[in-house]
Amino acid sequence: MEQPAINSPENDFYYPPPDVVSMAHIKEYEALYRRSLEDPQSFWGERAEELEWFQKWDQVLDDSNPPFYKWFPGAKTNIVYNALDRHLKTWRKNKLALIWEGEPGDVRTFSYYSLNREVCKFANVLRSMGVRKGDTVTIYLPRIPEQVIAMLAAAKVGAIHSVVYGGFSVESLAERIQDAQSRILITADGGWLRGKVVGLKDIADEAIARQATIENVIVVKRTGQDIYMEAGRDYWYHDLMSLPISSTSCFTEPMDAEDPLFILYTSGTTGRPKGILHTHGGYMVFTYTTLKYVFDIKDEDRWWCAADPGWITGHSYIVYAPLLNGATSFMYEGAPNHPYPNRWWRMVENYGITILYTAPTAIRGLMRFGDAWAKRHDLSSLRLLGSVGEPINPEAWRWYYSVIGKDNCPIMDTWWQTETGGFMITPLPITPLKPGSATRPFFGIDVDVVNEDGHPVAAGEEGYLVIKKPWPGMLRTLYRDPDRYREQYWGKFGDMYQTGDSARKDQDGYVWVIGRMDDVIKVSGYRLGTAEVESALVSHPAVAEAAAIGLPHEIKGNAIHAFVILRAGREQSDKLAEELRNHVAHEMGPIAKPEDVTFVDSLPKTRSGKIMRRVLKARALGQPVGDISTLEE
Ligand code: WT7
Repeated sequence: MEQPAINSPENDFYYPPPDVVSMAHIKEYEALYRRSLEDPQSFWGERAEELEWFQKWDQVLDDSNPPFYKWFPGAKTNIVYNALDRHLKTWRKNKLALIWEGEPGDVRTFSYYSLNREVCKFANVLRSMGVRKGDTVTIYLPRIPEQVIAMLAAAKVGAIHSVVYGGFSVESLAERIQDAQSRILITADGGWLRGKVVGLKDIADEAIARQATIENVIVVKRTGQDIYMEAGRDYWYHDLMSLPISSTSCFTEPMDAEDPLFILYTSGTTGRPKGILHTHGGYMVFTYTTLKYVFDIKDEDRWWCAADPGWITGHSYIVYAPLLNGATSFMYEGAPNHPYPNRWWRMVENYGITILYTAPTAIRGLMRFGDAWAKRHDLSSLRLLGSVGEPINPEAWRWYYSVIGKDNCPIMDTWWQTETGGFMITPLPITPLKPGSATRPFFGIDVDVVNEDGHPVAAGEEGYLVIKKPWPGMLRTLYRDPDRYREQYWGKFGDMYQTGDSARKDQDGYVWVIGRMDDVIKVSGYRLGTAEVESALVSHPAVAEAAAIGLPHEIKGNAIHAFVILRAGREQSDKLAEELRNHVAHEMGPIAKPEDVTFVDSLPKTRSGKIMRRVLKARALGQPVGDISTLEE
């Protein structure tokens, strides 16, 4: 094996400051990691003992029917019981659970006591509307406290929540409602973003017209503009919350550990998004443990996960894990640079944030405004930083480390996926870091890099990133589609979970994630499927065929570029290209809007008719197109 050069990233170590090490929950990694792999059942069983159960499990893991693994079968709990009810019996009752700042500057705070009251009230509202254990409830809200309240209330009554990110639009929302078959939709009149109102209710109305399951809509008043309210179908949240049925006490439904907690749709390789399903028991133990050990959550901390609850990062690390740990979370509604690029740093200073967890795209976006905006603020409250969503480029890492962290705050670069529920490859506060590497696997996580035949590759070589053992936070299935679950994640290697990423391990066992190997594109850390963008394009009357690819972008990491064949009789023009870009934004959401649309007469395809996006990409980048033996004439 070739030794990397002295100044290569593989040898660029950053060591944690002594005070971070001395307060860390975990002081030694190797031995515990080895133990956790040799006996995952006792490792996870011990972690589960730290939480409360209505009834204990018969066994920690039932692996008798792979890949349909069961964790803590026989146990009864409810994640909300551990996230809220449990703390009300302790001094944490009066501790702040959530501090929220709206983009216009309004602030709301909730203690565990007051958050629980809101959740109880809303849970009673849901029950009175007929929501029962096992029903699905779709939540389409801006980043406001009601989003957290609605999720917890649904889970409390045993319903399955399906949150659709507020940045998604008509078709994305409609197909997620339809697939989940929700009767109830929770939305808002609008949300604030960059000083403007995003009209969520208008989008919701259009989406409802395209599906057949919604019976009632609950609307939170956030922005106050006039909206359409359909009599008998739409109700204001505040009206329902003031009804006499909304008492402040409410029974928390006992759930089997394996009962579904939520579905969250994510993009795959086909046009239809996948409903990733997570459960009450295993997901609870996994998110609780990962946040506690990786970000070393303490009662004094003020934790800020700057994601949106509409994505898995927010589900796990804004809503569930911080509450399970009894932590104080901060949440912000709007854009990082509104009204000025110091908005985030001002909030870090004002609220005394101790841990900040965000995405490389946000770091690059703020870095471009220069150092002065951050330097105006006292950021000395920060102890740890975090990154997620895509590989972080070393320039962004160093800026984050020195300008924001003052060379004093280790960066936890956490690799994971919607499917994994929580952190999988990640440093601990004690881990020596290498900028750009997510470092080593978390406890109980057996990670490897393998070749086409499933054999481990040598150190330094690139291959498929796989997970070789089940873990409690893993997805259990794809909602109403177990065959696709088996095929998608276990089809290639049989007994190993296929992540869809490529990676390499270096001589120290550090993992370097390279990126997606499938037709999934990470745009600003958001996961989008090329097939979904393509179906949005062909839903326009001018388009006969379309292909979408991702190309490197300085801030977004990747950006979408579209290639379109027009229907006979349609003329290509700049105006039409613009119209198509806007059409994608209207159907899917602004994040999916292509950077540009190129009109072409043909698309490179295999003889079986599959678009060869790889060829389009290589051409656009001026790179050799590689093996094109399957290309049709
Ligand atoms: C994909 C999963 C899980 C939270 C957000 C994304 C990429 C995620 C990292 C990281 C390199 C990363 C992978 C993965 N990814 N974190 N720290 N380093 N790549 O969840 O939307 O399900 O996307 O994001 O490609 O497969 P997601």
